[in-house]
Amino acid sequence: MTIEEKSRKTLAELGVADAAAVPALFAELREAMQREREELIARGAGSEAERQQLAKALRDRWLGRKNGILAYLDESWLKSAPKDLKPVVGREFNQLRQLARELEIDRLIRDLTIRLEESPSVKGGIVKSVGGAIPWDAKVNVRIGASLTLPGYRRPLGSIHPVTRVQREIEDIFLNLGFTIETGPEIESVYYNFDALNILENHPSRDDWDTIYVDAQTVLRSHTSPVQIRAMQKRGAPLYIIAPGKSYRRDNPDATHSPMFHQLEGLAIDTDITFADLKGTLDFFAKKFFGEKVRTRFNPSFFPFTEPSGEVAVSCPFCDGQGCRRCKQSGWIELLGCGMVHPEVLRHGGIDPERYSGWAFGLGIDRFAMVKYDINDIQLFFQGDVRFLEQF
Ligand code: DAH
Repeated sequence: MTIEEKSRKTLAELGVADAAAVPALFAELREAMQREREELIARGAGSEAERQQLAKALRDRWLGRKNGILAYLDESWLKSAPKDLKPVVGREFNQLRQLARELEIDRLIRDLTIRLEESPSVKGGIVKSVGGAIPWDAKVNVRIGASLTLPGYRRPLGSIHPVTRVQREIEDIFLNLGFTIETGPEIESVYYNFDALNILENHPSRDDWDTIYVDAQTVLRSHTSPVQIRAMQKRGAPLYIIAPGKSYRRDNPDATHSPMFHQLEGLAIDTDITFADLKGTLDFFAKKFFGEKVRTRFNPSFFPFTEPSGEVAVSCPFCDGQGCRRCKQSGWIELLGCGMVHPEVLRHGGIDPERYSGWAFGLGIDRFAMVKYDINDIQLFFQGDVRFLEQF
């Protein structure tokens, strides 16, 4: 009697009246299910369509709603079992159902692969795959998925993100000058982000159209400058640090704006720091980063946390200051803001402005990367498009 025929008879008709005889009945079914699956896998399919059809046939045979073996068992073995046999039949039946799930009888069996027969187009040639071209020896391997001698999929190696690359380059220049790297929280208090930096209550940058507020006392830091205060409070003077990291502003994304971007802050505090140190350090930095032949230009500016404040531009490294597309014909590229640390800021950091002075600067890492690699859209950094990223 085949298992189908058995499944259509009641236990009584099969002569099973004793609970002890039930497990053997189900064991036979489990073995059959397993065997049929293995035979199918060993056979493989000739095409995706055949693969689907074979897998479906196996599923219908066992799990078909009306005519599947399990549907019959439910009717003729389980539902019509005498009371004393019900528990054991129920338990065994559930195990069989569980096995069907484990063997993926209920869906497309992943192990059922498609035979790739030897054909002129693949013989000794190249098979295109996700990770690139894989050499294919048709003589040895005629079956994808079944042969352990095939090389695996090649996972493409990643590369360093251009923003990270530029950040590390800037870090290295300052690390060589004896600076250390400091970090701070991206979710920052209004005190550190504004008050301690002498940014007064009525300053426009505090507006919630410019800064992203978490609550009245908390913001996503709008610059890396709050790390200045945290570092002063933590380490005291003298202090030579840089603080790279993410910053956030309520800007709509466009070619030059992103609500999340990267800044790098620099801070030097000691007993005899002057504006000359600031100029010398930033000029040295610009030459290291853009090449020895660039010149720097300092223009007066204003920041609440520095006095005096300046803006630094570098002579265009691409045209030598002659004027080109990349410097918008001006011969100069704006780099960063800087200045001498405001006494009020030193005080907030717990440092005596009578004894110590310092300089600070802040730059946009993304902007540096855009200039360096001639990238005209900041969004490219954050879209995760591999075609863009793999160029670095
Ligand atoms: N925090 C400023 C900004 O986000 C950049 C900056 C300017 C930082 C001058 C400084 C500085 O430390 O001295 O626009």
